[in-house]
Amino acid sequence: MSTQQRFVMNTWYAAAWEHELDNTKNLLARKICDVPLVFYKTADDAYAALDDRCCHRAAPLSMGRVEASCLRCMYHGILYNKAGKVVEIPGQTHISNNMKVRAYPVSAKGGMIWVWMGDAELANPNHIHDFPPLVDKTNWRGFEKEAYLHYQANWMLIVDNLADFTHVAFVHTNTLGGSESYAYESVPDEVDELDTGLAIKRWHKNSAPPPFHQRVIPQAEHDVSLDRLNDIEMHIPGVFLMKTQFAPAAPEGKSDASDPHREYRNCQYMTPETWNTTHFFWNYLHNFDLDNAATTTSLKDSLFEGFMEDKVVIEQQQLLLEQSPDFVPRGIGGDKALTVFRKKWRERLNEEVADNASSGEHTSRPVNIRALI
Ligand code: FES
Ligand SMILES: [Fe+2]
Repeated sequence: MSTQQRFVMNTWYAAAWEHELDNTKNLLARKICDVPLVFYKTADDAYAALDDRCCHRAAPLSMGRVEASCLRCMYHGILYNKAGKVVEIPGQTHISNNMKVRAYPVSAKGGMIWVWMGDAELANPNHIHDFPPLVDKTNWRGFEKEAYLHYQANWMLIVDNLADFTHVAFVHTNTLGGSESYAYESVPDEVDELDTGLAIKRWHKNSAPPPFHQRVIPQAEHDVSLDRLNDIEMHIPGVFLMKTQFAPAAPEGKSDASDPHREYRNCQYMTPETWNTTHFFWNYLHNFDLDNAATTTSLKDSLFEGFMEDKVVIEQQQLLLEQSPDFVPRGIGGDKALTVFRKKWRERLNEEVADNASSGEHTSRPVNIRALI
């Protein structure tokens, strides 16, 4: 009998912000794609990821101790190197070759530790989606410590949410949206297919500043109509990158605002913990008021409020979907982006399953995502 493969494994997953490992133990237990992992930071500030289960008697290595570049299991003291190989067994000199746990490729970029869950030989850190504002402190200011939320929902439901900003009008009327007119007056441009996902632009012309933006601009500008652009990329497995610009509404006859006034950059990384739970990482950066911590704090509070509005809806969706496995969603025009993204994700999963089968590595079949979400 074949097993069912649920996740694309040959891809980089956002695993932890670097600051999450700056704790007294320099390590973190985190399950990704159903696999319990331990991440640790070595004495020379490199990162490692191992299966979080000692090969001796299955104690969690995340209860262990970092020693230089190694990690010691604090049950019977076995010491592992970064490659997952046992290099010391207290009280014995012989170490057999099968004394090891799996090690996973990791790479730090943009303050995030990324992990590769599949075939280590295919892992290329250049394929991690770069988001330069995260490290460009000259032009952008974001949170001092980037943010994390835990979701009781499948990651693809959060991807769906971000793939259709119509919801901004109804879920976030008084926070991120401003009015229900956003759903009627702003229509996304065509969905552009990318190799690893999609891109969408959505203009909202000649509109009042939404509440989160109004809170960080001078009172005198509260009544100035703006052209608002959200320029989005979504990449497999769940990498959302957005440029937002607000500019004074373009004069009659001009197609768009040519003078960006204030801009934001937003990343949201959705990583499956299990099929029904998700790690959600985010930051929100501004290119104005760079010396003003109050602006950053206000934006963080506003966005957090908005994300909690999403979370309530999405976690309720998850519950209802778990209770109604036969549910078949009806489509509307606004589903174009999520449909494209699921198609591309599905193709990647199918390719991986076929490759594994032809190399004789696993016999598995891809999960039926439609039945579950
Ligand atoms: S369980 Fe880890 S050393 Fe025994
Ligand atoms: Fe939202």
